[in-house]
Amino acid sequence: MKDYNIETKCVQGGYRPGNGEPRQVPIYQSTTFKYATGKDMGKLFDLEANGYFYTRLQNPTNDLVAAKLAELEGGTAAMLTSSGQAANFFAVFNVANAGDHVVSCSSIYGGTFNLFAVTMAKMGIEFTFVSPDATEEELDAAFRPNTKALFGETIANPALTVLDIETYARVAHRHGVPLIVDNTFATPVNCRPIEWGADIVTHSTTKYIDGHGSSVGGAIIDGGKFDWMAHKDKFPGLTTPDESYHGVVYAERFGMGGAFITKCTAQLMRDFGSIQSPQHAFYINLGLESLHVRMPKHCENGLALAKYLEHHPKIKRVIYSDLPGDPYHALQQKYLPKGSCGVVSFEIDGGREAAETFMNALKICAIETHVADARSCCLNPASTTHRQLTEEQLKEAGIPAGLVRFSCGLENAEDLIADVEQALNEVK
Ligand SMILES: Cc1ncc(COP(=O)(O)O)c(C=O)c1O
Repeated sequence: MKDYNIETKCVQGGYRPGNGEPRQVPIYQSTTFKYATGKDMGKLFDLEANGYFYTRLQNPTNDLVAAKLAELEGGTAAMLTSSGQAANFFAVFNVANAGDHVVSCSSIYGGTFNLFAVTMAKMGIEFTFVSPDATEEELDAAFRPNTKALFGETIANPALTVLDIETYARVAHRHGVPLIVDNTFATPVNCRPIEWGADIVTHSTTKYIDGHGSSVGGAIIDGGKFDWMAHKDKFPGLTTPDESYHGVVYAERFGMGGAFITKCTAQLMRDFGSIQSPQHAFYINLGLESLHVRMPKHCENGLALAKYLEHHPKIKRVIYSDLPGDPYHALQQKYLPKGSCGVVSFEIDGGREAAETFMNALKICAIETHVADARSCCLNPASTTHRQLTEEQLKEAGIPAGLVRFSCGLENAEDLIADVEQALNEVK
């Protein structure tokens, strides 16, 4: 569906039923699939034929929804994972192994930072974190001969920095590695990183894509433009025989468009089993059907709140790249001209205590470990999602202790502002 606009892809992408088939994506609530002969099934195990044999690896419902995401992001192949964490882990681990090195923007979601800096470090993969404001030369300097990927978030959670995707892509490609971009906050409605040079896109579908706080999930989309064979020695997992699949060479057999997702499915999903349930895939497809209608409303509410807070005497700083005074406004205008997202971060005068008083007084907006939902929600990152970060790391990630991350839902903007106003009145 390459020729349709994003709205049509949100509604109709991925699944095209034939005559008399269900209009809605069917939920294939089955762990397994039936075959007439062992030979038929053997071909699937050898990756010689397409088809399904066990839902730990693949399920038709998931694949229909993944196909919609591939169309939305302008990719060639996609897969769903059980969470956004799994998506980022798989995307990086698919190209980097023990002894390898990865460069990542330091301004990323705290859970991803922990995954990289602690858990994947224990697996022998070393990460170098670079400031979101690093110059191209500084980015270059972070690379080593064993660097296998560059990672960043289109709009970082919760610092709301905007990634200079084109520059990151140029640097990654100069060093012969793919750029992996987590596009969770922007969604493909507001930004499509592949169009700007990114190679792999990841999502926590738990956020705007689901949009209704119903299902944890993730996704990986391959842009299909990275030439693994041109960097044969760097990516032996894709360019040399996989003995666990009878010697298949993914990059040769599945080409640039299919190698990454096939390897990720055949090896990582097989061994780690972090598949999204078909039921959740169905729910996130419902979310996708209205994503293009919801995102502008989230952005409208975000901008209205940011403008209100900008001049409030109790607010030290508002972080929202759509505001002309924001340091990332120029990048927002370039990469997200329709609007960034509904998440506004701000620092209340009085630090952590004032933030807590404010949040406790809110009536519409709830304190939640969540973001990017139809219902407005907020939290204090320093004491929740990012509490494992040291003071120094918090500073690097642009997260002062008194920061409130406020996720504007789909309520009426005036009601949201009135709620914020009465809560700020409680801060003495
Ligand atoms: C940008 C980003 N990436 C990844 C994740 C992890 O996603 P999940 O909670 O679905 O595992 C989150 C979660 O908040 C996120 O905000």
